Amino acid sequence: MRQPEMHELTVALGERAYPIRIAPGLLERREAFAGVHFSTHVLLVTDGNVGALYAERVRRLLPGSHEPALLVLPAGEQHKTLATCARIFAALADMQAGRDALVVALGGGVVGDMAGFAAACWMRGVRYLQIPTTLLAMVDSSVGGKTAVDLPQGKNLVGAFHQPCAVAIDTRLLASLPARELSAGLAEVAKYGALGDARFFAWIEDHADALVGGDAVALADAVLQSCQHKAQIVVADETEQGERALLNFGHTFAHAIETEAGYGTVLHGEAVAIGMMLAARLSSEMGLAPLMDAARLAALLERLRLPVAIPPRIAARLDPSALLARMQLDKKNRGGRLRLILWRGVGHAFVASDIDSRHVLDLLTDAIADGQA
Ligand code: GLY
Repeated sequence: MRQPEMHELTVALGERAYPIRIAPGLLERREAFAGVHFSTHVLLVTDGNVGALYAERVRRLLPGSHEPALLVLPAGEQHKTLATCARIFAALADMQAGRDALVVALGGGVVGDMAGFAAACWMRGVRYLQIPTTLLAMVDSSVGGKTAVDLPQGKNLVGAFHQPCAVAIDTRLLASLPARELSAGLAEVAKYGALGDARFFAWIEDHADALVGGDAVALADAVLQSCQHKAQIVVADETEQGERALLNFGHTFAHAIETEAGYGTVLHGEAVAIGMMLAARLSSEMGLAPLMDAARLAALLERLRLPVAIPPRIAARLDPSALLARMQLDKKNRGGRLRLILWRGVGHAFVASDIDSRHVLDLLTDAIADGQA
């Protein structure tokens, strides 16, 4: 029987260029890891949910004569900490991993960010391979080399840019993804359209029902188009000196909400959906974008079964000044001034410097009050 087509994109970063391979059933095909050197020391990092489903399959597929060591971490954003990361370092030390070690990240964004960060730090940098298992990780976090852990003070505050040596995406894994996780990933898909590609935004509108309904062809297409966008932006601006910041559309609000609500209370993609709406609303209030575009974004996110306002159970825990203080610790800020990604409408995001924090505080106060109403 003919195998489904495998798409291969290249993140063209010179000597550190790497492939993103995308196909349904990829984790049954050895070519998933073509070109990756499997050294003596391979550490497979996963979490309790994903490991039970896929760790054995991946172990069977990894070439080489040595059994990879397996480390199963607790699942959930609340575990994306330095303490959990220390367990990865301990595992690498126990196996006497040297500079040629390979870390394999099998899981969603939490596992990928932590395994990548550990790889960036171990002996000042070893290789790692991303095998994302959630839609969010497939379309965003596994590509581009952002690795990090959270602190109680804020999300992703400790991290490094460290590119993987390959990304292997088996879109068939999406069939077993819980509906809530699928929607959370679709927030990041919608983000690519919202920030820079009105044509892709319209495509998502056309396919919203299929995507949220788990249609394999539509989802595989969304993954491919999202990875194309991501790869292009990362190649243009690897360390976020300019254009890459646009990928944070909605994220400054989202990170503040996630931190204040308590990690794991709201999924990252859900917080991003709320954050994009807040950014769109602020843009309209500042006279930068038509209100109609904010309504169009809200309509799409609702069809993708995402929140477009702060849900009451979260709003009850939030205080506008505390949220603003979190936003002031965001990595995009310069010289103590708040910088946000706003938009001029669908497909036209931009970096806004010198935002008046009183304006943001009013917006947050209204958004929390709306949530509690
Ligand atoms: N997730 C945003 C970025 O990779 O830049």
